[in-house]
Amino acid sequence: MKSLIGLEAVRIKKIPTYLFADLDKLKHKYQQQTGERIIDYGEGNPLFSPPKSIIKYFISALKKPENHRYPSYNGKITAREAVAEWYKNRFGVKLNPDTEVAMLIGSKEGVAHLIWSIIDKDDIAYVPSPSYPVYLNQTILAGGIPKILPLLESNAFLPDLDQIKPDKKLKLLCLNYPNNPTAAVAPLTYYKEAVKKAQRYGFYCFNDNVYSELYYNNPPHSILEITDAKEHCVEFHSLSKTCSMAGWRIGFVVGNKAIIKALLRIKQNVDSGPFGAIQDAAIFALNNIDGISKNTRTDYQKRLLLLVRSLNKLGWKTDMPEATFYLWTKIQSEKYRRDSLSFTYSLLEKTGILVAPGCGFGDAGEGYIRFAAIVSLNDIKLSIKRLAVSKLL
Ligand SMILES: Cc1ncc(COP(=O)(O)O)c(C=O)c1O
Repeated sequence: MKSLIGLEAVRIKKIPTYLFADLDKLKHKYQQQTGERIIDYGEGNPLFSPPKSIIKYFISALKKPENHRYPSYNGKITAREAVAEWYKNRFGVKLNPDTEVAMLIGSKEGVAHLIWSIIDKDDIAYVPSPSYPVYLNQTILAGGIPKILPLLESNAFLPDLDQIKPDKKLKLLCLNYPNNPTAAVAPLTYYKEAVKKAQRYGFYCFNDNVYSELYYNNPPHSILEITDAKEHCVEFHSLSKTCSMAGWRIGFVVGNKAIIKALLRIKQNVDSGPFGAIQDAAIFALNNIDGISKNTRTDYQKRLLLLVRSLNKLGWKTDMPEATFYLWTKIQSEKYRRDSLSFTYSLLEKTGILVAPGCGFGDAGEGYIRFAAIVSLNDIKLSIKRLAVSKLL
């Protein structure tokens, strides 16, 4: 028999295994070995179920025959209109639902396909570090050249835009505010600078704004609030976090119509858009988003406050985040100060607590860990008791 050539495409070998898949393996291994229940602050996977009203609406949408056919590639016009209406009310931004909005199977899908639709071999994309791993890995898969912009605490976890250099291959700047993993929020002045740079150097920019409704201070902005931003930018949103609908896979992209058109050309050859009944439920969610997001915020704020106050009482100095459900905090222990992966393993072994190691989000994340405050209040109290005796602080 003829021997097989290597199975995996060369491009796959260029990216690391997915951080959260690795954490999942670690969790299962620990659980099998010890039989203990893990307190899992690892992945940003929402704790709650969506409000009952959304589920009820979804069930009624299941009965519509048209929802069982292939959906349209860019999403139902009714869903796109609901997005445009929300954008106008929430950010004061006008969008054309025909050309400037598309529904997505979660924003992760949209980000990945956007990168594939505009990045050619050797095109340059500026990617922050630490960051949600999809930006870097998809740039590499698409054959692009990622240039890293470190997010430093000394610069409020905002990339230094002066590090962006003009280049004929420069194509994309990836932004994500409110930010995962640092929980930082970008002021409007920062977006203004980013748009100015995009205009001056001629590149495109996306802002991944999936955490826009999880805030504990002032409501975060949209990059599209900046005049003429639509000439260069799109923004991603999702109902995964705001409405606890992560498993439903529903998000949307808004802004520059040429970028959206390119993204849809890829999607037409990959998927057929989100399930119609889920889009109907999304319309209901968007029409009621103020009440839903207020409740979600209250629930996460309680958890974050308990976690932050308790850690501070233990001597782990850390501040309440302004947004998201993440707590991005420096490792206190001298031994692990520059080794977040070993700290994560030791923490799991000694306490049964799982966190995400900062290094998993990029080199500039080293020295930090991320708690996703998605566990119950009782589990937060229990984890604090375990931490107190762990000698890991
Ligand atoms: C910054 C960021 N973007 C996108 C996503 C994915 O969201 P969705 O569920 O809409 O695909 C996540 C999920 O954790 C995220 O943190």
